[in-house]
Amino acid sequence: MQLALQLTLSALALSVLACPGEDHAHAHADHVHAKRLYPQVPLTPPSRPLVWSDFNIIHTTDSHGWLLGHQHLSFPEPNYSGDFGDFASFVTHMKQIALDKDVDLLLVDTGDLHDGTGLSDGYPPGQVDGHETNNFIMDLPYDVLAIGNHELYEYADAYDTYKNFAPHWNGRYLSSNVNITVYDDDGKVIDVPVGSRYTKFTTRKGRKITSLGVLYDFTGNSENTTVQTVAEMVKEHWFKEAIAEEPDVFVLLGHMPVRYDHWPAVYDAVRAVHPYTPILILGGHTHIRDCIQFDGRSMALESGRYMETVGANLDVSEHENITFTRRYLDANRVTYEYHTGISNQTYDTTQGQNITRGLEELAVAYDLSYLYGNAPQDYTLSRYATHSSRARMQVLPYSLSINNTRAGVPNIIIVNSGELRFDILAGAFTKNDELTALPFLDAFLYIPNITLGVASEVLPALNKAGADEKKRDLSAVERDAERYAQGDVGMRYNAWLEEMSARGAEMLQRRAESKNLTLGYVTSDLCPGVGDDTPHIALPYYSSPDFIGSNVPTVSNDTQIDLVFINFIEDQLLEILNEVQSDKTYTDDDVLSYSPLLANVVLGYYAQKYWN
Ligand SMILES: *[C@@H]1O[C@H](CO)[C@@H](O)[C@H](O)[C@H]1NC(C)=O
Ligand SMILES: *[C@@H]1O[C@H](CO)[C@@H](O)[C@H](O)[C@H]1NC(C)=O
Ligand SMILES: *[C@@H]1O[C@H](CO)[C@@H](O)[C@H](O)[C@H]1NC(C)=O
Ligand SMILES: *[C@@H]1O[C@H](CO)[C@@H](O)[C@H](O)[C@H]1NC(C)=O
Ligand SMILES: *[C@@H]1O[C@H](CO)[C@@H](O)[C@H](O)[C@H]1NC(C)=O
Ligand SMILES: *[C@@H]1O[C@H](CO)[C@@H](O)[C@H](O)[C@H]1NC(C)=O
Ligand SMILES: *[C@@H]1O[C@H](CO)[C@@H](O)[C@H](O)[C@H]1NC(C)=O
Ligand SMILES: *[C@@H]1O[C@H](CO)[C@@H](O)[C@H](O)[C@H]1NC(C)=O
Ligand SMILES: *[C@@H]1O[C@H](CO)[C@@H](O)[C@H](O)[C@H]1NC(C)=O
Ligand SMILES: *[C@@H]1O[C@H](CO)[C@@H](O)[C@H](O)[C@H]1NC(C)=O
Ligand SMILES: [Zn+2]
Ligand SMILES: [Zn+2]
Repeated sequence: MQLALQLTLSALALSVLACPGEDHAHAHADHVHAKRLYPQVPLTPPSRPLVWSDFNIIHTTDSHGWLLGHQHLSFPEPNYSGDFGDFASFVTHMKQIALDKDVDLLLVDTGDLHDGTGLSDGYPPGQVDGHETNNFIMDLPYDVLAIGNHELYEYADAYDTYKNFAPHWNGRYLSSNVNITVYDDDGKVIDVPVGSRYTKFTTRKGRKITSLGVLYDFTGNSENTTVQTVAEMVKEHWFKEAIAEEPDVFVLLGHMPVRYDHWPAVYDAVRAVHPYTPILILGGHTHIRDCIQFDGRSMALESGRYMETVGANLDVSEHENITFTRRYLDANRVTYEYHTGISNQTYDTTQGQNITRGLEELAVAYDLSYLYGNAPQDYTLSRYATHSSRARMQVLPYSLSINNTRAGVPNIIIVNSGELRFDILAGAFTKNDELTALPFLDAFLYIPNITLGVASEVLPALNKAGADEKKRDLSAVERDAERYAQGDVGMRYNAWLEEMSARGAEMLQRRAESKNLTLGYVTSDLCPGVGDDTPHIALPYYSSPDFIGSNVPTVSNDTQIDLVFINFIEDQLLEILNEVQSDKTYTDDDVLSYSPLLANVVLGYYAQKYWN
């Protein structure tokens, strides 16, 4: 048997309609039009062509609703400015190339389709998160898809996936270890897989494929959904049956990172039965670019988040190691045009343009370009040493003072730094940016009459309990594991940024030519050859503390102030408050509601006041 495989994998990232200098919120038509002018800055094309082989895969993962692309102009955002219409055109052209070359090309996705931008999350009351954006996903000819953890936080999302999304794929939407509880036609409660547990199909070129769609051991799922652990799943009778027959290739999808998780359990189970069958694993969830081989005849690939792309190419022969290439593509038109060899003038397909238009109409329907103000600079989560936390801490004292009878009482406000989910970038700050950066409906709470002396010890104690001791303190390790199980990927993603940044600093010192490189991801994975499609220099990375607080008011230590905090951290805060003082044991009963405003609107109010 002579078998060759190539993978080309991608993930999507996008934010909407940000034209700096736009001075009026209602200029919808212009705004939408302007968007099509991008790339609005010249982008350099990639320098490493894809290596086509007999079997190729394009992979998207963790697109999180970024279907209109990254539209801000701060670098490296323009590198990810391709929208889902551009991507659809890319897929069409790639499929044509595959036909011309008479090779296989599969398109796969590994979940987390929403929770990320206004396009998915800005839906009006009564609708379901991601329902509209899923329609665009369904416009593309995906061959296999897998469920992500974000499809399961809310029962309504899981049900929508079960009812409206999974059926579209005719058995190719996979949820090997994820069930949902629903009523059957007779009103009886039943427990069924959200999609299918596995699928077997034959490619255009006659290759037999067996696929699974595995979710990592996620515990944050809603009531009436079930996630079986990976270890339990591989013991199931259906699993053994699914893998019994030998296909030409196992294409194992899963919303599970390729390292530091349970892929080896799945791989081992398959290998135990089929010592030589090629195994291709397409993972996701931690939002990084990564690749690893479990043996010479397997590879496992993870393709980042929000519109990056990966390619790999396997040349397989009996009982010998496979060879392959994989590429992580920056998702933009220049990249797509380069790899398909199609000029900008003839690049757009009718379908691609239709998708872009549909997405723009959705943005209008959700009023996503409603303008709050213009951010004077970037406030990134990790790129500058101080900006981001400083910005957040100007926002809260102002916004929480609106219509608040406690506004006159000095306070300290504490939030977890993970509350902000995306950078705030220079230029228009729109409703979409607000939903992208801080969508959470968290409430602000307070405990009155805490002396400043005590209150000012809380933040440092919270951070100490978190950061420093982390590596030695078992309970902190357990806490991190718990956060990970609940779906928090910040620790893994940030560790990746930090590692890249450290290597980048070294590279800058050593090599003059690196001074020419543009900002972006610089992947160092465990697969042979080069992964990144375009060479970059890594973004600087500065970690932020787990918790951040507003400035300590300039009053005496015995002044009684309000200790304000976000409801998300109530348990930890009470625990710490009871550690730093012993006059009183504070409980739930001491906690009051501080402001009618929820977290998701505080940035907008601030922008309206200070960024206009
Ligand atoms: C590429 O094509 C798009 C869409 O047709 C157009 O808006 C844009 O100006 C073109 N860009 C360049 C650099 O030619
Ligand atoms: C990526 O962004 C940089 C700016 O950091 C830009 O100069 C470069 O042309 C972009 N490259 C690609 C391939 O988009
Ligand atoms: C999932 O649903 C199937 C079909 O009803 C059932 O046999 C299986 O036990 C369920 N699995 C879990 C882990 O709940
Ligand atoms: C879960 O399903 C049961 C049985 O149908 C139902 O009584 C319960 O309300 C459901 N819970 C949620 C949160 O939907
Ligand atoms: C095949 O791959 C394995 C694991 O990657 C490696 O240890 C081994 O040396 C390779 N064999 C050959 C012949 O290259
Ligand atoms: C255009 O998009 C709409 C939905 O936005 C869809 O119903 C229609 O089938 C699409 N037409 C083409 C030609 O892709
Ligand atoms: C503050 O109160 C006024 C008067 O009741 C009201 O019109 C306004 O909408 C409130 N502002 C906010 C942010 O709730
Ligand atoms: C806080 O202190 C003020 C004045 O000392 C007092 O009136 C109020 O009842 C106290 N509130 C609580 C909740 O203890
Ligand atoms: C106020 O309290 C803080 C924290 O307990 C302490 O570090 C500081 O020295 C105190 N300041 C004064 C003037 O007592
Ligand atoms: C930087 O790029 C320019 C233009 O592409 C090239 O001429 C120059 O040699 C490069 N410098 C280094 C140090 O690689
Ligand atoms: Zn994700
Ligand atoms: Zn995820």
